[in-house]
Amino acid sequence: MAREKWGSRWAFILAAVGSAAGLGNAWRFPYMAYSNGGGAFYVPYFIALFLAGIPLLMAEFAIGQGLQSSAPKSMGKIKKGAEIIGWWAVITGALITFYYNVIMAYIFNYLYYSFGVSWKDDPNNFFFGKFLQVSSGPGELGGLRWPIVIGLAVTWLWIYFILRKGTSSVGKTVMWTVPLPVILLIILGIRGITLEGAAEGLNFLFQPNFEKLVEPRVWANAFGQIFFTLSLAFGIMIAYGSYNKKNEDVANNAIITALGNSATSYLAGIAVFSVLGYMATQLSVPVNEVVKGGIGLAFVVYPKAISLFPGGVIVQSIIGLSFFVMLLTLGIDSAFSLVEAVEAAAEDKFKINKKAFLIGFSIFGFAAGLLYSTQGGLYWLDIIDHFLGTYALLIVGILEAIVIGWIFGAEELRKYINQVSEVKIGKWFNFSIKYLIPVVLLIVLVLTFSDELKEPYGGYPSWALWTGFFVLIATPILAIIFAKIPPKDNNYYKKAKIDLEEGGM
Ligand code: PHE
Repeated sequence: MAREKWGSRWAFILAAVGSAAGLGNAWRFPYMAYSNGGGAFYVPYFIALFLAGIPLLMAEFAIGQGLQSSAPKSMGKIKKGAEIIGWWAVITGALITFYYNVIMAYIFNYLYYSFGVSWKDDPNNFFFGKFLQVSSGPGELGGLRWPIVIGLAVTWLWIYFILRKGTSSVGKTVMWTVPLPVILLIILGIRGITLEGAAEGLNFLFQPNFEKLVEPRVWANAFGQIFFTLSLAFGIMIAYGSYNKKNEDVANNAIITALGNSATSYLAGIAVFSVLGYMATQLSVPVNEVVKGGIGLAFVVYPKAISLFPGGVIVQSIIGLSFFVMLLTLGIDSAFSLVEAVEAAAEDKFKINKKAFLIGFSIFGFAAGLLYSTQGGLYWLDIIDHFLGTYALLIVGILEAIVIGWIFGAEELRKYINQVSEVKIGKWFNFSIKYLIPVVLLIVLVLTFSDELKEPYGGYPSWALWTGFFVLIATPILAIIFAKIPPKDNNYYKKAKIDLEEGGM
């Protein structure tokens, strides 16, 4: 049976941009730029994007497309033992969806709370107190928070329906879930910059502090951000590429995807920082006192700013709704892309029926997400994310670049890319995949780890951090187990040359 295919080139590009542009663009990028040199951060950011991010994105698209396989199968075809790396990537992705979807559940709740700006009296107490009823620490799980559980069920159901018919249902979804958040960001950005004090906020984001560029950590942050934001090293872009025809363009598609994603980050930066500037002016405090990233930005700081907006409660409710619909539609494509990477891997190896797998995985993911839906859930979300979202991503990224660059051969892949692409790429591609990416990611890994040793993350008790570390260690072990199970498909390990002849068009 022929592999399913995207309905059009745009369906593929939108799905890829959708995966790349996620919550991180809204709440990680602006904060990164702010704390790493403001306008000067664009220097390491774009260097990282062009020298490392785009080459690895091209490599992932090309591997998936050329071998017509998910990440574990592609890696296994390159070298049998390397299949483990593919599984490591998708297992990490699977564990990430379990809490990513809990954040989606928060957002669903905040859609509801937007009506009448329920948080207006004290957004901080509202979030941690009334909504999360947060416990004293990771040692106390407390009870389930039912509003989160309901939001979680809705999220998984939504993902199931999006993925159910594969590329055809995904293609229909991304036609609106990708443009909509961009439109909302433009609206929120325009409203933002017309508020009093907006310029103050934007100054923080754009005024370059070039002295920062001598700090190695700023460069490490830029490379880390690029890998995270392009959804690399989770097997997603390989799976998406595998639904292309073998002669589909690679280089241009990767460049469009990467630039579309960066444009979204840029818009989000404007929407967020203009409003932070306004809020600081209203509260007569310096901007740096209100700046936050992550969950704190989305559920405390931005909501607080909304409650200060001119125009009364109806206008504020509309702004709140726009903000959370933006986050929801921004996040959903990243969430289901993680699931699709797992689904593609399972289907390739075990020939399981797609719908059956999705039903089983959704139920399992929902159950696993219950841990994060407890009163102590936020602590665990933070701890597990810290270990998986940084370390696993970096280690898998290094190994993946080595397998593609050295075992498959960067030059071989470059030839294929140039055969199918409008834009031709030079030998720098080989240098990037073989040397630059592994070395830079290794440096980032070492810097992050040395920070870890200096100060325990988040001030959590050491047993809780060890638990997070244990989850990280469990991922390659699970990967080995999955790689060892014999495939249902006889051709699973069959060496495939990437060429345009067989099954090409
Ligand atoms: N690229 C997403 C973002 O920036 C994060 C993500 C990474 C999502 C990996 C899925 C997989 O928000």
